[in-house]
Amino acid sequence: MRTKLIVGNWKMFGTLAETRKLIFQLAVEWGKPCEGVEVAVCPPFTSLIVAKHQLELSHIKLGAQNCYAETSGAFTGEISPAMLADIGCTYVILGHSERRTLFGETDELVSRKVRASLDAGLTPIICIGETESQRDNNETESVLARQLAGSLATLTNDDAAKIVLAYEPVWAIGTGKTATPEQAQAAHAFIRSELSKKFGDAAGSIQILYGGSVKPQNAKVLFACPDVDGGLVGGASLDADQFIAIIEAAATP
Ligand code: PGA
Repeated sequence: MRTKLIVGNWKMFGTLAETRKLIFQLAVEWGKPCEGVEVAVCPPFTSLIVAKHQLELSHIKLGAQNCYAETSGAFTGEISPAMLADIGCTYVILGHSERRTLFGETDELVSRKVRASLDAGLTPIICIGETESQRDNNETESVLARQLAGSLATLTNDDAAKIVLAYEPVWAIGTGKTATPEQAQAAHAFIRSELSKKFGDAAGSIQILYGGSVKPQNAKVLFACPDVDGGLVGGASLDADQFIAIIEAAATP
């Protein structure tokens, strides 16, 4: 039985004051652990330390939204997985479609980042997903298979227990369009079957999150799908009430 995981991807939102307020609402005002649900928030780099201090006594884990593929060196402007681990991050989101499309990240770069993150002791949340035209052309499975093969290229069987996947159809991100539970389940089952080809039985314990306009109104039906193990939540994670409602939707059967 896989634990559900709900991750808030704050993207490029949040001053320090906004971070303090949102984390206070989640960790102090609400703050109760939800049976069977793990929760993490991924604020921008500039808010990580402040968030870490505020989350000290909380069950909510911390993650970053990106990192580079090296431990240290002359890479102006980059942040290493070791630095993220050093300040108390548990997770790092890698290969998000915004990074792939806006910043030219390839599967090859994502796979190097995944390797470096695992080596630093972080849990990578590896994002994959098809565009609308790829879905319309019946290419969803071939795109997912290609992204998986490329992004997981450096992994061994022992690594399977330490990764999280996120299926994020690009057409559903920030658009208010959500995959139907049937579409999500079909994609997740396909991803799990590809993971089994690579990792064997260990694939059964890998959490596969759904991302793309997850809201309190659609969370429950999505999380009820057998291969959907939680959500990667963008817009709705910036509103404490909505994010809490999504967490609670994951907790109740
Ligand atoms: P959204 O973003 O929930 O705003 O669609 C999800 C994501 O990009 O991870």
